[in-house]
Amino acid sequence: MEEKLIQEINEKTPIVDLVSEFVSLSKRGKNYMGLCPFHQEKTPSFSVSPEKNIAKCMSCGEGGTPINFYRKIKNISFEEAATALAERAGIKIKTQKQKSDPNQHYYKLMNEVANFYQFNLKNSEKGQEALKYLYQRQMDDDLILHFKMGYAPSHGDTLYQVLKDKKYSVSDMIALGVVKQSDDGSYYDLFSDRVIFPITNPKGDVVGLSGRTLNPKDQVKYINSPETVIFKKGFLLYHLYEALSEIRVSKQVILYEGFFDVISSYAAGVKNGVATMGTALTKNQSNLIKSVAPSVIIAYDGDAAGQKATDHAIPILEKERLKVEVLTIPEQMDPDDFIKSYGPEQYEMLFGEYTVDAYAFRYTYYKQGKNLSDANDMKAFRRLVMSMIQNSDASIKGFYLQKLAHDLNIPVESLEFKRQPERQEPILPKPERPMMLDKYAKAERYLIFTMLRSKKASDQIMKHLKQTDFAETITASIRLKIESYYEEHSDMDLNQFLDQLSTEQRTHMETQLLSDMFWTNQIEISEPEMEGYIQLVKEANMKRRLEYLREKINNEDNVSDILITERDQIIVSLKHKK
Ligand code: GTP
Ligand code: MN
Repeated sequence: MEEKLIQEINEKTPIVDLVSEFVSLSKRGKNYMGLCPFHQEKTPSFSVSPEKNIAKCMSCGEGGTPINFYRKIKNISFEEAATALAERAGIKIKTQKQKSDPNQHYYKLMNEVANFYQFNLKNSEKGQEALKYLYQRQMDDDLILHFKMGYAPSHGDTLYQVLKDKKYSVSDMIALGVVKQSDDGSYYDLFSDRVIFPITNPKGDVVGLSGRTLNPKDQVKYINSPETVIFKKGFLLYHLYEALSEIRVSKQVILYEGFFDVISSYAAGVKNGVATMGTALTKNQSNLIKSVAPSVIIAYDGDAAGQKATDHAIPILEKERLKVEVLTIPEQMDPDDFIKSYGPEQYEMLFGEYTVDAYAFRYTYYKQGKNLSDANDMKAFRRLVMSMIQNSDASIKGFYLQKLAHDLNIPVESLEFKRQPERQEPILPKPERPMMLDKYAKAERYLIFTMLRSKKASDQIMKHLKQTDFAETITASIRLKIESYYEEHSDMDLNQFLDQLSTEQRTHMETQLLSDMFWTNQIEISEPEMEGYIQLVKEANMKRRLEYLREKINNEDNVSDILITERDQIIVSLKHKK
């Protein structure tokens, strides 16, 4: 989008009107003040200046121009925010290609389905029974509305008939799994006599449904929509979209196992909860959490299965560099049970008193049920703890080595880390580490620009550099996306490309890369320059490897000769480059 157009959109969007949709403002002199929507506070420090047409929090610094404010508060891309505001202001945008989501008709249909079920809960005879069930489980009307709960009648094809009357295509109904075809060719509804929970994607479109039986004897407690083009369970989290504003303020996500845990917690005042849907946490879900908050509390069931699932989820969340804590619920209860038994106040207190860090949780979990004078148990416990701290920083290592030595009643010196096989060595630096040198970071960036401009250049760069050659993991991941984009397209359509990125990647592109002068001024990069940048990236890589080798050689006994030779070779090649 052109700078001039961006300016026009900002100018034609009165900031006070825009902010007022989300924050209640009162006038103070020339400006308006309100409670900041981006962090928790009791006295207003969110200041809105009609004169400068910007908003800014005096306390946390969040805010910005109308477009920036809007994208942050709606958690959408810059492009999306600008387009939405342009539309409101009546500004015509000439987009190169009209961006239309090819799944739009599916969302529309699913939304219709959810509405139908919602209507049925309140307006049908059998719906009254479902409603009674929900009331029994201490739900009230506000809650039912917030979660858009519904009821699927048991007549076989009611939904199908309704959708057909509204002229929806039968093949779409089938593709979305809400209607099925029987052997005799007739159609029937997937859900029958069940309480319905609609499931949204992170943009708020209904993409799937889950139905809970009302019959306690039913073998199948929940039926979910099948995996469809728009419903991929491993990529979604229940209630994420609905919880976004709470998550933004608390800067934290609470991760549950069950729908009812999310709902009861919400009723008890803990509103930033989301849940997986009966499957183990995936990398994509973890990435999704990271895109909305820096920290997460796992609040799975307190029973053995819940603890096992927690132990599984921790490394996946830590890989995304999320701060991970665990809520340990007493008496093997799940959050829903706990709230029912002890009430909302006690529940909120749990978060203060029963939340432990991920290490403390695992240590206790690994120790649990083991007899530490039994040789096998000792060995198993020791192995688990050692592998837990293997790659942790020195203070954590020190702390848990002491603790383990104490619990095993052995001297701490006798605890040794197994040398990891070569292939598991951490060759990539941690992203928090500051960029090595400016010229290297720049080289990486210019190469990304070059790749974005043409497939030919991209192929050439890919030939010379592996993904792991990029220092920053985020840049490396974007590079991978470019590569797969070109597998399907011969030209780069930037808008379309941005749509395929994760929120984190998109933010990085928009705030770091596409705002770079080099990109905005469309400076061409010649072939020799490109080769120069490739060499620089390789050089940076060698330096990192060297640093790693040096540390290893200095700190470990019995270092293999191969590593020492490699170190010397790198030193020689780096000298040649000078
Ligand atoms: P209640 O038992 O009514 O409190 O429901 P819950 O949401 O707490 O369910 P539970 O803790 O038993 O299970 C956790 C999650 O696993 C549920 O929310 C579902 O997403 C999923 N799940 C449970 N049972 C089934 C099932 O029979 N089929 C499928 N597909 N998923 C299930
Ligand atoms: Mn439950």
